[in-house]
Amino acid sequence: MSSVLTGITTNGSPHLGNYVGAMRPAIELSKKSKSFIFLADYHSLIKQQDPKLTHQSTLSIAAAWIACGLDLKNTIFYRQSNIPQIMELNWILTSITPKGLMNRAHAYKAIQDITKGKDKDKNVQMGLFNYPILMASDILIFNAELIPVGSDQKQHIEMTRDIANKFNLTYGSFFNLPEPLINETTSYLPGLDGNKMSKSYSNYIDLFSEEKKLQKQINQIKTDSLEPGEKKPKESTLYKYFKCFANEKNIKQIDEYFNEGMGWGDLKKELFELINSEISPAREKYFDLVNDPKKVEKLLKEGESKALKIASKNLKEIRALVGIKSL
Ligand code: ADP
Ligand code: TRP
Repeated sequence: MSSVLTGITTNGSPHLGNYVGAMRPAIELSKKSKSFIFLADYHSLIKQQDPKLTHQSTLSIAAAWIACGLDLKNTIFYRQSNIPQIMELNWILTSITPKGLMNRAHAYKAIQDITKGKDKDKNVQMGLFNYPILMASDILIFNAELIPVGSDQKQHIEMTRDIANKFNLTYGSFFNLPEPLINETTSYLPGLDGNKMSKSYSNYIDLFSEEKKLQKQINQIKTDSLEPGEKKPKESTLYKYFKCFANEKNIKQIDEYFNEGMGWGDLKKELFELINSEISPAREKYFDLVNDPKKVEKLLKEGESKALKIASKNLKEIRALVGIKSL
């Protein structure tokens, strides 16, 4: 069975996009595969510089993973910042990564595109530019094979493969070439405004919104005002949500229902029921854990001691390959 690895950046509370793109598939896999699940806290410094938020978000995202049923028997669960070998590998990989590869990263290009004027790099921090190398280090330090992520991360996994390949050719074969695990139906959840749902844009639905707030946020999902018979439900943002939470039978019936006069309001109510029934068993556990940070800390410490053993063994071999070793 392939080893699985994924992480979430600690720059806010977990949202439904994180859940469908990364958490849900990773939790399913954790029941049968050796898994590495981590809190990408060093990544969060690139996206925002609010120390309180980074700290609070680490607890919140850790609690979410546990509450949603991560199998801790098969999983090594840790904070990125407590595994210093990741940072050391980051430098080794930075030293062999062509700048041209980083120039092509979507996240970097997106910031350049919104910067008007001559100096396109005005709002680009080096952390953002080098970000795919840190992500490659997260994955390669454990030689993980399968990476469940949302479709926005596909390019980063391809870059990880390129970097791993370059290392193997330069110093000798050491790294696996990891594969992304992206479910075509449920790998992308739009935000309330129809754009990508992300903690970086305030267009997300909190994973653990209380019922009233959840219904309110679902009601805010953008829809059109065509007459019932003219609507094209399968082209709507709402349908993209529906697909992520409904079973196949419900999905097939949706056109029929709309032909019979169902409107967006009905679909929103149905969507609320679907999401709420899937998430509500975890909601209470989540709030209990957030109120018991010591319990979360203990679980992370246990995971970190296991992660450190593997990371230091791998790094020792990597160091030897590049010529950094005892005389
Ligand atoms: P955010 O974009 O909110 O800052 P992260 O960058 O930490 O979240 O993403 C963590 C994981 O959640 C990644 O695997 C990413 O692909 C996934 N993810 C984030 N937003 C979505 C979305 N809207 N739909 C599906 N998956 C998503
Ligand atoms: N880059 C991911 C994101 O922002 C989070 C992340 C960091 C990650 N390192 C990773 C995901 C390694 C998978 C594997 O969405």
